[in-house]
This record gives sequence, C-alpha cells and structure tokens, in this order.
Amino acid sequence: MISKRTIEKVFETARVEEVIGDFVQLKKSGSNYKGLSPFTEERTPSFMVSPAKQIWKDFSSGKGGTVVTFLMEHEQYSYPEAIKYIANKYNIEVEETERTQEQISQDNEKESLFLVSDFAKNYFKKNLFEEEGKTVALSYLKERNFNDEIIQKFEIGYSENAKDNFSKAAIHAGYKLNFLEKTGLTIVKENENIDRFRERVVFPIRSMSGRILGFGGRILSSSKNIAKYINSPESLIYQKSKVLYGIFESKQSIVKNDNCFLVEGYTDVIKMHQCGISNVVASSGTALTENQIRLINRLTKNITVVFDGDAAGSRAALRGIDLILEQGMNVKICNLPEGDDPDSFVSNKNLEEVQSYLNKNSKDFIVYKASLLLDDSENDPVKKAAVIRDMVESISKISDYIKRELYIKECSSIMNISEQVLYSTLAQIAKKDFNNLKKKPVKEFEPISIVKSDKKKSQVNKLYELERKIIEILILYGNDLIDFEEEVFSQSKDGGSTRKNSTRSLKVFEKIYMDLHIDEMEFSNDNFKNIYFRIIECFNENKEINIDKFINELSSEQQLEVTNIVMDNEKYFLHDWEKNNIYPKRKKDTLAQLTIETVLNLRCFLIDKKVNGFRDEVKENQLDKNNLEEVINYSKLKKLLSEKLNRVL
Ligand code: CTP
Ligand code: MN
Repeated sequence: MISKRTIEKVFETARVEEVIGDFVQLKKSGSNYKGLSPFTEERTPSFMVSPAKQIWKDFSSGKGGTVVTFLMEHEQYSYPEAIKYIANKYNIEVEETERTQEQISQDNEKESLFLVSDFAKNYFKKNLFEEEGKTVALSYLKERNFNDEIIQKFEIGYSENAKDNFSKAAIHAGYKLNFLEKTGLTIVKENENIDRFRERVVFPIRSMSGRILGFGGRILSSSKNIAKYINSPESLIYQKSKVLYGIFESKQSIVKNDNCFLVEGYTDVIKMHQCGISNVVASSGTALTENQIRLINRLTKNITVVFDGDAAGSRAALRGIDLILEQGMNVKICNLPEGDDPDSFVSNKNLEEVQSYLNKNSKDFIVYKASLLLDDSENDPVKKAAVIRDMVESISKISDYIKRELYIKECSSIMNISEQVLYSTLAQIAKKDFNNLKKKPVKEFEPISIVKSDKKKSQVNKLYELERKIIEILILYGNDLIDFEEEVFSQSKDGGSTRKNSTRSLKVFEKIYMDLHIDEMEFSNDNFKNIYFRIIECFNENKEINIDKFINELSSEQQLEVTNIVMDNEKYFLHDWEKNNIYPKRKKDTLAQLTIETVLNLRCFLIDKKVNGFRDEVKENQLDKNNLEEVINYSKLKKLLSEKLNRVL
C-alpha cells in the first residue's frame, strides 16, 4: 500500500494541466485549457481542463474527474499505478505503508516471478534472430506472413531445440531455480531441469499494464502427436481465467473505437493488428470467464465476438453471450466464412475489405441466436419453443429494462410470436431466478419490472435531477448570503393563525439544510448523500469548498458527479462566449427563488414517494394503524408544501 502521506503529496504537487498536457495538446482558453478529446475522434475541441479546480471534463465522451482519474481512463492504470506514475513524473518518493511479513514475502515472490518472466521474454526474443531461430522459427513466421514490425510489437520469440539451454542461461544470469520452477519455465525433476518451452515459437502474454505474465508456445510442424500449443501453468502471476491475450497492445484502441473484438487465438489477435484492426483480444481457446469480461468492461461496453467459420465456433460463441450480457454489456457476433479463422481471413485482404466484412456481418446477439438456432428447428414446434425460451433466457440477463424491452420486440418480430407470450416467459424465468436467489441470498437481486416501467424510469430520473440540482446549488452558491422570504405564522387572539411574510438572511447551505432537515428526508442517491454531508460539514467548519481538495475525498463515481456539475457550468467558455459576455451571471434574487423551489420540489417528491409506498402496503394489507397516521400526516404536509410551491412559482 502506498502511504497516505505520499498520496497527499502527489495531489499537492501534481498539476492536472501538466499531466494531461503530456497526452493532449492543450490551449489556454480563458481561465481554462481546452483541447481535442483523447477519447473520441473529434475535430472541434470539447475537452476541458480547469487549473483552478484541478479537474478535467470531456464533453464528447462524458468522462471527467481528477488527474488520477485521467490516467486511469486514458492509460488504463489502476489507482496505485496512477499515483506511482505521477510520483515518478514529479520525483516524489513513494512510501509504502507497513506490510505484514506474509504480504512482503508474497509481493517479493510475485516481483521475482515477473522478473524471471521478463528475462525469459528477452531471451526468447533474442533467440528468434540467432542461428537456429532464424532458420527454423523466423522463416516459419515469414511463411505465415508475420511482418517484422508485428514480430517486434508482440515481442514474439523462439525457444530452441535443447533440453535446458534457457534454464541454464537464467541461472547463470542470477535467477533462482525456485522462481523458474514457479513460473513453469523450468520443469524441475529429481536430477535434472528441463525447459518447458522447446523448439517453439513463443508468444509472451501481458497484463493490462504490460507486464509479462506467461507464455504460449507453438510447435513449428503440424505433428499430431504433440500439442499444437503449450502454455505457462497457473502461477502467482498467471491465472488463465483473468488474462486476455492482446489486452495491453489493444487497450487504447478499444477505448477509442468503443468496441472490442474477441477472437480465439494468439495468431488471430496478431494478424488483425497487422491488418490495421488493433482493438482485438483473445480468450486463448478457453471459454470466456467473468473476470475476462470485467477486463474489457473497464475499456468499453461493446464486444463483438468473432469466431471461426465452423459449427464448433458458433456454439462456443453462444456460451459466452449470457455472461457478457449479465455484466451490462452489448454483444454482437460476427461469423467468418466457413473454414476461416480471423488469421486466415485477413491474410489476403486489405483493411477496407476486412472492415466492411466485419461491419456487414456483425449481428446483434438476438438476431444471431435466432438465425443460428432457427436453422435446425424451423418446422419443429417443440424445438422452436426451446429456441424461444433460450433467447428469452439471454434477454433476462440484461438488467437495463429499456434495452430488454427492445429485445423482446425484436425477438417477437423475428420469431413471429406475440410480445405477450415473451413477457410471460420472461416473468417465469425471473420468478425461477428469484426463487433460486432466495435459496442463496448472496447476490443482490434486482426485481424485474416490465409493466409501468416508463413511469418508474421517469420518476427515477426526476428524483436524480432534483437531488443533483441541490448539490449543484450547494457547490456553486452554498456560501452565498441571501435574503430569503419566509412565512411566519402568528397566533391571533381568536385562536386562528395569520400568515405574514418576512425576510431572513441566511447562507444558501443553511437554508437548504434546515428545509431538508424538517422532514427528516434523506437523499436517495448514495453518491449525492455522501457529497451532501461533506459539503455541509465543510461549510459548517466555515470553510469554502475548494474543488481541488474537496474532490479528492470522494469516490470515483462521486468525483464524476461533482466534475460534471462544476464543468457543465463552464461549458459555455469552450466557445469563447466568455469573451463576449453572453453567459449570464445568476442574480441574487433568482438564486433565492431557485433554492426554495428546488428544495420544495424535492420535499414534495419524497413525500409522494412515501405516500405511494404506503398505498402499496395498503393494497397488500400490510398497513397497521401507526402507519395509517403517518400517511395522513404526510398527506397534510404534502398539501401544505404544494400550496407553498404554487405561491413561489
Ligand atoms: N490452444 C491451446 N492449446 C492447444 C490448442 C489451442 O492453448 N493445444 C489455444 C491457443 O491459445 C490458440 C487457441 O486455443 O491460440 C485457438 O486454437 P486454434 O484455433 O487451434 O489455433 P490458432 O489460434 O488458429 O493457431 P494457429 O493459427 O497457429 O494454428
Ligand atoms: Mn489459426
């Protein structure tokens, strides 16, 4: 763990405009900098950096945050990697906090395995261009049309035909046999050591950040008796289910294209790169795992599965789909012509031809599934029913219900079956899933709602917008002192009450805090809830909110919310409107009005929600007498607030 002190130092020292300036050409624009988005292919700048607030926002992709978020988004660094990058740039010494003896030795062991693997990569690489390598392996690669540039890019190597040349060289260079054994590079027998990779072309497998994790080795002949590929065994650094071949070389391009092609083999990845398509990774022959999908999910929401043009390939593709859908990603499938794998397919084509084929033949999973499954079940009602169930099963994995509804429509038209039937199948599956989940209550369950979904969605949005508005007011104007109109009720002698208006000077945050406090209402969005408490805490301590400090205490999701709020208000400056003074400054009286109105709206909304919740309970006969009283009270309050709101508007 990096020490807190180091992290603080990094944030104190780093200048967001300097760090980003290493990746994006920035031009001064008013008090900000602007440039072309590094995440999309745009021509007019919509990428903005604020030196004063130490945040950035990309209006074309919606991303934004702190200097660390930038490195995580752009370089796909993990948090500690980003901190270390900045520390290195500014010559800050990285302090590690105390670790247990066990942690230290595990880290040391891991580091040793990485070092051995790196040595091996260089050894194999060099070998490819020495005598034996040149004559047998390099010529083999040339025959298969690998060009020099691509051999360098993927650092392809060769392990010679010898029992233990590599192991000896490694030990001679000072690497311990223990680590050679643990990476699997050396097989240690009773009285001899043997190189795992012998007489094979070697493909190094890298992590997302580029470290060597393991190797795949291919034989040069087409002998049936030996495995075509052998791979590094599982180790502390190489876990097959967590790596994707090509992820390091492809990550930038995956982000840029907002899509990732998924293929089966090492050579498929490399040849697609060589052809000019560089957003490709391979699952290396195994079925896709959740961890692998998660790796891609960090870069894009869109996967196009490209599988070989044979039946086995198609079935393999189908198995992975549901897993991908479950993680909220979009899946397309592209089938290659019979007999081709991506490697052979691209070999005699140029980039345009390949791209146009991929574009034309990438089908949304539902269309693909239907066409594939229908082939063998067209005239068989029993089979057709199974196909439909299978499709709906996949659809049920999608958690975004709007998307789900669209797929139901699509499925209905392809299979020529009513949406109603599909919905009830979906409900059946959901119920089954729900019962299964009840048995194992580990996972959180999101109930499936099909009917009334539009209404719910818009309500969720409204609540989100209202809560966001409050946060926005607090961040931008929270410390402003304003005269608020207030209603004062005074008891008259005859027992009735009269309403009078008076003004009261309050800071905006005090007003909001008091008003929200009255009903004991809380923010429903956890991010806003946390941001809200931190803002109030800050103002209460008589501090101004300095976004650059404030934001570092928040989670990355919360950082994005705050960045969006702050930068949305600066968006107009992108177009030089600032100079022309077109952007209006908010006047004090409208601010008072805005504050009161927003808070009232939120209070009304939350009360509505409470009352509706009670109504549902009434329907299910679960309401007791205490609750009933509460309902009545809330209804009264709601009436009062609505009246107020009408007066304000
Ligand atoms: N694979 C493996 N072990 C094998 C065969 C295959 O690990 N004995 C993995 C490799 O990662 C390989 C992938 O499965 O890249 C796909 O296998 P296949 O399609 O048979 O090989 P290709 O990638 O087409 O390799 P090549 O073009 O060199 O024949
Ligand atoms: Mn192949």
